[in-house]
Amino acid sequence: MKTKKQMLAILLVIAMAFSVYGCASNGDTDQPSQQPGNDLPDKTEAPEQTEEPSGEGGEMSESLEKIMQSGKIVWGTNAAFAPFEMRKGDDVIGVDAEIAAKIAEKLGVELEVVDMKFDGLPNALTSKQIDFIAAGYTIRPDREEQMLFSDTYFKAVQTIIVQEGNTEIKTAADLEGKTIGVQSGTTGDFTAEEYTADENIIRFNNAMEAAIDLSNGRLDAVIVDDLPAQMIVAENPGLVLLEEKAAEDEEYALGVRKDAEDLLEVINEVLAELKASGQINEWVEEYSFLN
Ligand code: ARG
Repeated sequence: MKTKKQMLAILLVIAMAFSVYGCASNGDTDQPSQQPGNDLPDKTEAPEQTEEPSGEGGEMSESLEKIMQSGKIVWGTNAAFAPFEMRKGDDVIGVDAEIAAKIAEKLGVELEVVDMKFDGLPNALTSKQIDFIAAGYTIRPDREEQMLFSDTYFKAVQTIIVQEGNTEIKTAADLEGKTIGVQSGTTGDFTAEEYTADENIIRFNNAMEAAIDLSNGRLDAVIVDDLPAQMIVAENPGLVLLEEKAAEDEEYALGVRKDAEDLLEVINEVLAELKASGQINEWVEEYSFLN
């Protein structure tokens, strides 16, 4: 656990690294390099500083520099995944929203959220529309090719929802050849591919829409992460969960751009503190029993 003093020290290092990098980068741009003398930073400040400004770790990643410079960090998510993220009016609330707020707080910047289609998140990250992904987002090798993942903060498992009284689907193996609804691009989607042909997988913008079609009898099953599945079943009488899971356990983490090792360090500190204090589990309970 970090003390206030340690946190301040971290922020100071970040701020110092930023000013050093910010100066150095002036010469790298294709803009004219001459500057009015009165814009130069006052070099006489902080004479007690002992750290080598040009030493290791003195440079801030482009990603973190953008965040500190703009004074805001942009969180990308798909807010249809309770209890991790859901909409409440114009706000996005949930476990990931709480984590995102802590990250912004630690950096001393504003938090902005972009609620988008789930399968658009990786591109939004690499194209710098967002600064990090927090979306009950499972670590997968293909995703690791596109981004850096933080430490994990939650374990999940793909769960099968069927209509109550379904006598045909009692185990995961019974999904073979069945029509399965999923949220497009999720681990539920990839899991469904292990049981049925691609043409039998119906891809929705979110799992709640899939659940509606399951209730209407247009689907045989829906595959989605366990906590959202429990909430969907609680809100949709006539739908039940199979006891058997559809896949092995998976783990949630946050994703950042590949250059953003320094941002990742801050995120991992926040996660470590939240995990150590049991706060994440408290939020999971709090947001699982809304309304
Ligand atoms: N854990 C699954 C995955 O990473 C589903 C996540 C869906 N998240 C969301 N916010 N809709 O693919």
